[in-house]
Amino acid sequence: MKAGVSFLSDSRIVSRALDRFRRRAVRRDGPVVSQPPIENLIRDLDLEGYARRGGLTGRGLARFLDRYLDSCTWLHHPGYMAHQVAAPHSSGALASLVDGFTNNAMAIYEMGPPAAAIEFWVLNWMIAKVGWVPMPYPREAGPALLHAGGVLTHGGSLANLTALLAARSRVAPDAWDRGTPPDLALLVPSESHYSIARAAGILGLGSAAVTPLETDAAGRVIPDRVRGAIRRVRESGRRPMALVANACSTALGLFDRLREIGAACREEGVWLHVDGAHGASALLSEGTRALLDGVELADSLVWDAHKLMRTPTLCAAVLVRDARDLDGAFKQEASYLFHDKAQPGVDFIHRTVECTKSGLGLRFFAVLAALGEQGLAAYVERQFGLAREAHRWISGLPDFECPAAPQANILCFRLSAASDEAQIAARDALISEGSFHLSTAEVGGRRYLRASFMSPETTMDDVRRMIERVRRAAGGA
Ligand SMILES: Cc1ncc(COP(=O)(O)O)c(C=O)c1O
Repeated sequence: MKAGVSFLSDSRIVSRALDRFRRRAVRRDGPVVSQPPIENLIRDLDLEGYARRGGLTGRGLARFLDRYLDSCTWLHHPGYMAHQVAAPHSSGALASLVDGFTNNAMAIYEMGPPAAAIEFWVLNWMIAKVGWVPMPYPREAGPALLHAGGVLTHGGSLANLTALLAARSRVAPDAWDRGTPPDLALLVPSESHYSIARAAGILGLGSAAVTPLETDAAGRVIPDRVRGAIRRVRESGRRPMALVANACSTALGLFDRLREIGAACREEGVWLHVDGAHGASALLSEGTRALLDGVELADSLVWDAHKLMRTPTLCAAVLVRDARDLDGAFKQEASYLFHDKAQPGVDFIHRTVECTKSGLGLRFFAVLAALGEQGLAAYVERQFGLAREAHRWISGLPDFECPAAPQANILCFRLSAASDEAQIAARDALISEGSFHLSTAEVGGRRYLRASFMSPETTMDDVRRMIERVRRAAGGA
């Protein structure tokens, strides 16, 4: 009974603190980012004391939260433009609380029927956006019905690994038992996220198996060169395991031309993996969907909800056009989990690296159900539109340059006359004053400042102020 009372009063304390935190962030009433020394944080949060005596509740909890939130990176702040992490919608955050408390580790149906049902529904919702055949309910599944499949994972990196594992099982079905054959090659554009190279390492392909695809100056795959690249791999006595395309790339946010690349892969019988961790959310809006034109030709797609769909970290989807490819990716014996059983739902455990798995679908579904598809689509359009407008304005300034026109909500720029070190120093200065949080990226061997417009509160006025701060930090004004 007492525990219930403190849960109710403590959750009021937590929600009040978080509501204030969000309102302060939106009003810019505090630094967007602050990085106190780690030893100060450990001391100020009294970690030792609480660990020894317990009792983090009531007023103590309120004080602790104030200190904690003050030093957080404020993703709802209009000056937040750094990494591709959502400024989460409050409904998604509440869903994380529900998931945390119910703790339904739903990779097997009996450990969380509603969480599993939501994951199944969310996957089918995404599959429909791609244009593939959705998964039937288990009792309707006929053996002959070819349909797509998927699973939600804790992050896009794990999703990329899972997709490439499925690709390996198609090309080398006995790799699970005999190990990864030494003749497999993975064709990858240089601008791919590092999790692709990591997946190649984890799969035992070796970095020598990662074969670069020809790209233009902005790092986009040149579709006309894809067939030649595949043939050269074959002529060298190797088998292409998969070809990776970006939708969109991490540094510049540019989309590869999926229809032409997909047609080449189909013709050559090569698995096309589309890394849409960031950009697949463009499928939500008629205005941006064309960026992924041809995505249905892919064999696998990764799509993160915790990037462009306002969902708290983490919720990533790995989707495959043919569910059998994912079902064949893992082969495991675990008599206490994997056995024939009559059940009215589905298990996901045979499709994922993870055994204990959070109810990830609930986090995203809560946001979708709060904003509706139209609301989410409007958010994506707004953020992409802001990047376009910022580009128009910044590329017109005499002292700045941009390496490419943005296609998503990511924009790179630099002070033309300043060195690479000066770009990094400008970012550091903005972080120290707590006004704006930018990241940086190397493009064509030069260091650029990089803005990822994630906060729905960021406007062109913020962009103008940010540029002014960059100028001042570099001593240019
Ligand atoms: C294109 C791309 N793929 C994969 C990832 C990795 O996703 P996660 O951070 O969810 O592991 C990222 C992260 O920024 C990305 O931009």
